[in-house]
Amino acid sequence: MATERTFSIIKPDATRRNLVGKITARLEEAGLRVIAQRRIHMTQTQAEAFYGVHRERPFFRDLVTFMTSGPVVVQVLEGEDAVAKNRAVMGATDPKKAEPGTIRAEFAESIEANSVHGSDSAENAAAEIAFFFAGVDIVG
Ligand code: PPS
Repeated sequence: MATERTFSIIKPDATRRNLVGKITARLEEAGLRVIAQRRIHMTQTQAEAFYGVHRERPFFRDLVTFMTSGPVVVQVLEGEDAVAKNRAVMGATDPKKAEPGTIRAEFAESIEANSVHGSDSAENAAAEIAFFFAGVDIVG
């Protein structure tokens, strides 16, 4: 399995509850390495563009409002099979359906305030990383 990169967001519900360290520890314990990290407060324009693929979904406005409601931590993660590994440690979108022991099962408040985002493919990971990070900011 090749070394791969993925993109992660620690969402506003988690930063509000001071869970950045605990969530990052879970990612590291799963074999992922944080090779770039920044704490930002997303603008409405950024959130709308980042989630543009969901523009027609009924929850789009709520999602943008939530993701701009407080600071987030954006991260680039590197490791063997990083996209799938990160998705596994995150757990299902809806915390009620997330496997016990996953980040969302343990920390998420709801399907909206679900603590973390992770890219769903290597192709989307590359686009999402480029959206938030310049190449010089990534130290692998
Ligand atoms: S999909 O079709 O698999 O891409 O959809 P999914 O991954 O389930 O959800 C995409 C993102 O939308 C968020 N989401 C919601 N936000 C607010 N309300 C509701 N009901 C809702 N359902 C899904 C979900 O957390 C996903 O956000 P990210 O940041 O991608 O994890």
